[in-house]
Amino acid sequence: MFNNSSIIKLEDICFSYLGSDTKVLDHLNLEINKGDRIGMMAPNGSGKTTLLHTIMGLCKPDSGTIKVFGKVLNYEKDFLPVRSKIGLLFQDSDDQLFCPTVLDDVVFGPLNLGFSKNDAIDIARKTLERLGILNFEKSIIHKLSGGQKRLVALASVLAMEPEVLLLDEPTAGLDNKVKKKLVHILNSLDVSYFVISHEFDFANAVTDKIYSMENGRILRDDEIHIHHHEHVHKHGKHPHIHK
Ligand SMILES: Nc1ncnc2c1ncn2[C@@H]1O[C@H](COP(=O)(O)OP(=O)(O)O)[C@@H](O)[C@H]1O
Ligand SMILES: [Mg+2]
Repeated sequence: MFNNSSIIKLEDICFSYLGSDTKVLDHLNLEINKGDRIGMMAPNGSGKTTLLHTIMGLCKPDSGTIKVFGKVLNYEKDFLPVRSKIGLLFQDSDDQLFCPTVLDDVVFGPLNLGFSKNDAIDIARKTLERLGILNFEKSIIHKLSGGQKRLVALASVLAMEPEVLLLDEPTAGLDNKVKKKLVHILNSLDVSYFVISHEFDFANAVTDKIYSMENGRILRDDEIHIHHHEHVHKHGKHPHIHK
């Protein structure tokens, strides 16, 4: 199924927002390989969203190298083809959804990939059904709740069948029942992903390793050691459950 080839590789990335001296990303390195299911837990403002936007080419690094599927990406034209293979779930669903109705929004991706209208509708409906929200297909987006929008946004990403998912706080605004569904869905996907979450139980349930971020850099789970235990576990300083 999966071999261990690199999907995304960030090398020595520095990034500051225009007009700011603060390096949000400061000589950051990150590698996402096929089959990886990585969680990211770090405080607000530590640069998690900026990191995902950098991978997508939405934030242009001041220095460093972005490689996706082994190709170095420098310019907007380099990022265009990879955007359909990397599914970014935006932190704010309103940044993701721009069509009037649910079905329009989920059909948009497959249509853009070249599917016929009928096939695109078919894919969209199947994706909505999988997420248990086919009954929303005719709903007007701006009338949905935050949690419902989140699921529609996720449907619009999954309908593209990306090779890797970048999920920016997917459980924000979801109730426990829907969170459980999301755990089940993520665990059933044959796709690599990197998921930002503040919820340890969720992150623990859907990932194999959890990273953090500090001073503009990634801390891998084997680097997170701010306190001592008599035993070894993968979650370092994060709250964790011992069974
Ligand atoms: N568009 C922007 N312009 C200027 N500064 C920004 C912008 N977006 C985020 N920042 C700043 O960059 C830092 C990292 O933000 P962000 O990547 O959103 O962090 P996180 O997702 O970890 O909460 C914060 O200090 C934030 O205020
Ligand atoms: Mg964020």
